[in-house]
Amino acid sequence: MQRKIMKFKPNYLLLIVFMFLIQPLCSQSYSPAKENLEARKWFADAKFGLFIHWGVYSVLGDGEWVMQLQNISIPEYEKLPTFFNPVNYNAAEWVKMAKDAGMKYICITTRHHDGFSMFDTELTDYNIVKSSPYKKDILKELAVACEKEGIKLFFYYSLLDWHNDDYYPRGSTGNGIAGRKDGNWEKYIAFMKGQLTELLTNYGEIGGIWFDGDWDKKEADWHYDEIYQLIHRLQPQCLIGNNHHEAIKPGEDFQMFEKDLPGRSTQKFASKAEDIGSLPKEVCETINGSWGFNLQDRHHKSDKELIQYLIKAAGYGTNLLLNVGPMPNGKIQEEHVKSLEKIGDWLAVYGETIYGSEGGILAPSEDLVSTQKGKKLYVHLLNPKENWFLPGFNTKIENMTFFKSRAKVKYQFTDFGLLFSTPAREQDEIDTIIEITLK
Ligand code: GLC
Repeated sequence: MQRKIMKFKPNYLLLIVFMFLIQPLCSQSYSPAKENLEARKWFADAKFGLFIHWGVYSVLGDGEWVMQLQNISIPEYEKLPTFFNPVNYNAAEWVKMAKDAGMKYICITTRHHDGFSMFDTELTDYNIVKSSPYKKDILKELAVACEKEGIKLFFYYSLLDWHNDDYYPRGSTGNGIAGRKDGNWEKYIAFMKGQLTELLTNYGEIGGIWFDGDWDKKEADWHYDEIYQLIHRLQPQCLIGNNHHEAIKPGEDFQMFEKDLPGRSTQKFASKAEDIGSLPKEVCETINGSWGFNLQDRHHKSDKELIQYLIKAAGYGTNLLLNVGPMPNGKIQEEHVKSLEKIGDWLAVYGETIYGSEGGILAPSEDLVSTQKGKKLYVHLLNPKENWFLPGFNTKIENMTFFKSRAKVKYQFTDFGLLFSTPAREQDEIDTIIEITLK
């Protein structure tokens, strides 16, 4: 019998209707849920969070890249979990430390580039519960402590994996690590989806997912559409950020900057100025020079540098995610605990000029930045000196005072801007704040 061959005639009207119907499924049309928009607002107001880089690499005290830096083979590296036993880990202490520092959220590494999962996962035995003597899920404890203290919990999740064979074809890093085998990329994507589902199901409400490692394989198909949709379906308020150093991709909710204030371009991987968008922003920075615990990194930034970085970040309209790398025993090094205390002391007095603010109308410079809440403009003078001039400033002023003493500031408008002086008794080594109420 001869088969009838149906000739396919395109019905353009049907096609248009079909496209219209599937449009909501495409991420290009991502429209954030109401909860997500509220979460973005919360995030932009929060201004300050704690980044935690913690993994079995902390045992070696040489940062989180030690596996690739020292080319430690797979079987050698697999020994590390067997003596990772953080008996002094106390999630409540960490959360209290962050809260006292004035931080509003915590972002912790759940799985870094070494591929070791710091949580209970069904997708691999290479995890803290099954492969370490500690046997407990550190995320569970942290999630409980955060919930109790009203601190939001974000999860860092590495896209790059030096341990999983399915991370194949491999990327630009970790190629000197012996013992890696060939695998299947689609299986790797499924693995990530499985783990992300666990992370968004087993730990209560999650503030956000912080992706990293995209830069390892620029040409890869990461299936972001599916991954981002999965996250927003499981938890619509969950904010997605990705440290790809590029313009925002559809489905992302905030833009992140690594060790670089937006637009400063101080790093070779810095985002291009034209890629900076209007979503909430976050810059991450280390207290010394390392993310993961580094025993010999002595380049701890001074309290002044750290506080001024937080102020500058706010002046650039961005949050600061400040990092600690806990030690293998679960404690955070004393120098860093002390620095965080100092920042907390400062925020307890001046936090009003930071939290809930936006970058102010004055362009940031080395000498000053400004933050703003409606008609209240806070000028943060970062280098103490007596005479100041704000070129081009011609907005009418209702009131101008020193934030701390509430004394009036003497000022004068010229044809070219605003002149004012800060007498020595008002000057502050870290930040002299002038509060201007604009008319
Ligand atoms: C870089 C590093 C990574 C670190 C991250 C934090 O991407 O590869 O180790 O976790 O920066 O911003």
